Amino acid sequence: MKNYLDLTGKVAVVTGASSGLGRAYAKALAENGAKVAAMARRTERLEDLKKEIEAAGGECLPVTMDVTKESMVIDGVKKVVDHFGTIDILINNAGAIKVVPTVDLALADWQKVVDISLTGYFLMARECGKVMIKNNYGRVINTASMFGLIAGQHMPNLAYNATKGAVPNFTRSLAQEWAEYNITVNAIAPGMFPSEMMVMEDSTLALLKNRCPIGRPGNVEELLGQMLLFASEASSYTTGQTIAIDGGWTAV
Ligand SMILES: NC(=O)c1ccc[n+]([C@@H]2O[C@H](COP(=O)([O-])OP(=O)(O)OC[C@H]3O[C@@H](n4cnc5c(N)ncnc54)[C@H](OP(=O)(O)O)[C@@H]3O)[C@@H](O)[C@H]2O)c1
Repeated sequence: MKNYLDLTGKVAVVTGASSGLGRAYAKALAENGAKVAAMARRTERLEDLKKEIEAAGGECLPVTMDVTKESMVIDGVKKVVDHFGTIDILINNAGAIKVVPTVDLALADWQKVVDISLTGYFLMARECGKVMIKNNYGRVINTASMFGLIAGQHMPNLAYNATKGAVPNFTRSLAQEWAEYNITVNAIAPGMFPSEMMVMEDSTLALLKNRCPIGRPGNVEELLGQMLLFASEASSYTTGQTIAIDGGWTAV
């Protein structure tokens, strides 16, 4: 078990890899030996990530795509298989948020969040799952949120909370369906981590101090160990689980 997080020879697909958590996940997977397909809409960001991963000795295939577009998902996954030969790990991570009182939430904004956070996860899982089932091996890791486990009191966020609330049962359902193919499906529910989506304003830091036992935002590095654990052999008997990494917020 000495090198139990080693992913040498594995191929990982990360959505939302152009910034924030996804970018950190892609780099950590590459650092641990995986070949990484980095997906998002902003090509330039993905090219920068590729350069960084290659400079550190890793392999990265940037795939520009929108996870809400079925044809782009199908083409993107095919591109990965054509390039790397297979897919072992999927990190479903692309996401969007719309903070607005529910009475002012436009249907188009609701739909956008549902399309990215739920339909996108489904399309990516379906297409990568076809490859994993053929290989009789796979690791799927879905990004949920602590705001899929609790409502939160500080911002009106209905579309986000509802879609993130669906991720744990999406995870359980897929875990049950694909267990016979040696595919595990788990989820990480982060608390608050600085990113383009989660800007740390003074009010956010004050809220964390009051509400979160650890009393500060998470550093993205504090998600990587769990992600690698779910991605590796070490968690071969763990499936259908959602773990909150939130400084203890949802524990109290
Ligand atoms: N930061 C936190 O505190 C926190 C907490 C809990 C959960 N999360 C979740 O973590 C995930 C990553 O969020 P983040 O905080 O890292 O935010 P972020 O920096 O805004 O990243 C969001 C990523 O999703 C991609 N994306 C958005 N729409 C897309 C689409 N239609 N197709 C493909 N890619 C798309 C974006 O890339 P492009 O714009 O280039 O497409 C970007 O790479 C999300 O699922 C989020 O809900 C974050």
